[in-house]
Amino acid sequence: MAQDVHCIIGASGQLGTEMALSLKAAGERVVLMDIKPPTYSGILDLPFERIDVCDAAGLADRIAHHHVNHIHHLAAALSARGEQDPQWAWNLNMKGLLNVLEIAAGALQPMRIFWPSSIAVFGPESGPIAGQEEHRWPATVYGISKNVGEQWCAWYRRNRGVDVRSVRYPGLIGTLAPPGGGTTDYAVEVFDHLDNAEPYSCFLEASERLPMMHMDDAVDAALSIMSAPQEAMRCEEAYNIQAMSFSPEELFVEIRRHVPDFRWTYAPDFRQGIAAGWPDGLDDRMAREDWGWSPTVDLPQLVDTMVRARRFKEPALGAV
Ligand SMILES: NC(=O)c1ccc[n+]([C@@H]2O[C@H](COP(=O)([O-])OP(=O)(O)OC[C@H]3O[C@@H](n4cnc5c(N)ncnc54)[C@H](O)[C@@H]3O)[C@@H](O)[C@H]2O)c1
Repeated sequence: MAQDVHCIIGASGQLGTEMALSLKAAGERVVLMDIKPPTYSGILDLPFERIDVCDAAGLADRIAHHHVNHIHHLAAALSARGEQDPQWAWNLNMKGLLNVLEIAAGALQPMRIFWPSSIAVFGPESGPIAGQEEHRWPATVYGISKNVGEQWCAWYRRNRGVDVRSVRYPGLIGTLAPPGGGTTDYAVEVFDHLDNAEPYSCFLEASERLPMMHMDDAVDAALSIMSAPQEAMRCEEAYNIQAMSFSPEELFVEIRRHVPDFRWTYAPDFRQGIAAGWPDGLDDRMAREDWGWSPTVDLPQLVDTMVRARRFKEPALGAV
């Protein structure tokens, strides 16, 4: 049987970089696609195609050229940048997804797609611990695009037989690439301020609890759901998953255990308004039951890994 060929669209971003490294380490065939080239040295030897996911014909041509049968579609406008440029965000998030779904629907060989949704599908009326079937009335352009994206995936699954799989990611924290303009970016950026003379200024309020996840668990979730049997999938839309919940204050206190002179302050901006509409945590029992979702990194381990990576240039947990 021919080896699977994975393509990562949005491969130069925060999640794409980590996913590319993991697939490479597992000996998989991987093609990177993005509008900007990758920067992380560990993946520069992988084939790269500069492509705009909104260019349907160009994308279809490159996917056929490389005989891709697994698409990880990660290119998206994130929550904070999306609020600043709603038309751009909507166009990228919707057109990009529809192009990928159409390519899969018309493919001559079976194709499998991973497309991440987000906790942003929930809104101020959702409960503090959002259930799988929680009421969803998102308050951001990004959240609306993810919510509608989930419905498009369900439509293509039902009506065009497309095998598309999805999870609702919480805030993702890793070391290999900078974050791309989300509301949880503070939990990544703070690790670049450990040795600063000035206190780190956090753009969320001290007590704003949000669900979070280390990149190793995020990549593991994507690869696990992609290899799960289709019959096991009960969920029509995207699966809730999370690893931990914490507030900025809880994160910074944990960091101070490793960096005793670390100091911080708060200057909440418009991103606090976005975060306030998101749940504190997610009920992810369905993902655990259906495809064995099981996170491994908790808050102390996350901080230990991130501090070591930044201060001593040690690799991320799963990096090779
Ligand atoms: N990072 C998080 O905390 C988080 C949380 C929940 C969900 N997600 C989802 O995970 C996915 C990946 O997020 P990320 O944090 O890696 O984002 P990112 O912003 O770091 O990376 C996105 C990548 O897409 C590329 N891109 C932008 N426009 C493009 C286009 N027109 N064509 C091709 N590529 C284009 C960018 O150059 C960038 O490299 C997104 O779907 C996002 O919504 C991320």
